[in-house]
Amino acid sequence: MLKLGVNIDHVATLRQVRKASFPNPVEAALVCQKAGAHGITAHLREDRRHIQDSDMKMLAMKVKRLNMEMAVTDEMVGIASRLKPANCCLVPEKRQELTTEGGLDVIGGFKKIKPAVKRLRKAGITVSLFIDPDKDQIEASRESGAEFIELHTGAFAESSGSAAVAELKRLVAASVFAHKIGVKVNAGHGINYANIEGILTIPYLYELNIGHSIVSRAVLTGMHEAVSEMLHLMKKYK
Ligand code: PXP
Repeated sequence: MLKLGVNIDHVATLRQVRKASFPNPVEAALVCQKAGAHGITAHLREDRRHIQDSDMKMLAMKVKRLNMEMAVTDEMVGIASRLKPANCCLVPEKRQELTTEGGLDVIGGFKKIKPAVKRLRKAGITVSLFIDPDKDQIEASRESGAEFIELHTGAFAESSGSAAVAELKRLVAASVFAHKIGVKVNAGHGINYANIEGILTIPYLYELNIGHSIVSRAVLTGMHEAVSEMLHLMKKYK
């Protein structure tokens, strides 16, 4: 069965814009789990723009299957080795980006990535590398010792028409190749309620990591109840 990992970063984004105590991403993670999500993903960025260290610590304690997204730095490998999430997904990180932009360059960063994978695996953590659908990057991922790759679906999600068809073909070919050489395949980035149909045509997928579209949908589907509840409390006004 194809698994769903819900990325709850943007629950924390909503909290951080007001530096408030809510909404709490850990609470959101527990709701996702209750709804049937197989895993929870959270990205502890170096600039701590959404998820905070204390969130990650609580998530590691309370969530059944935590996937910690992180840059390949000594600091992050150290934090992950202490918290021991079930999975770590290594991603490239740039300060100015709105979200993770491209895949990890496993070939270019091999000298740094391989020892990081080794340290994480030694701590009992399953490692996945977030990469573009590219054969050479997939081969380098296997060489690094990572068990999983996460195929970057952003280019497909952001394109339309014949460009989207071409991007989907690349994803299918990448997944077939990864499967052939014994690398397990996840996918994520930009997946929403409309483009999921195309994503489901990619073979050999283990898990999808979806964040922004689910958090956005939750804001709207929860709005009726949130307004009704406030109106109910206001009825006490004399
Ligand atoms: N997978 C990875 C590696 C990501 O960096 C992100 C974004 O944080 C996601 C999945 C989820 O992407 P989205 O929020 O667009 O669903």
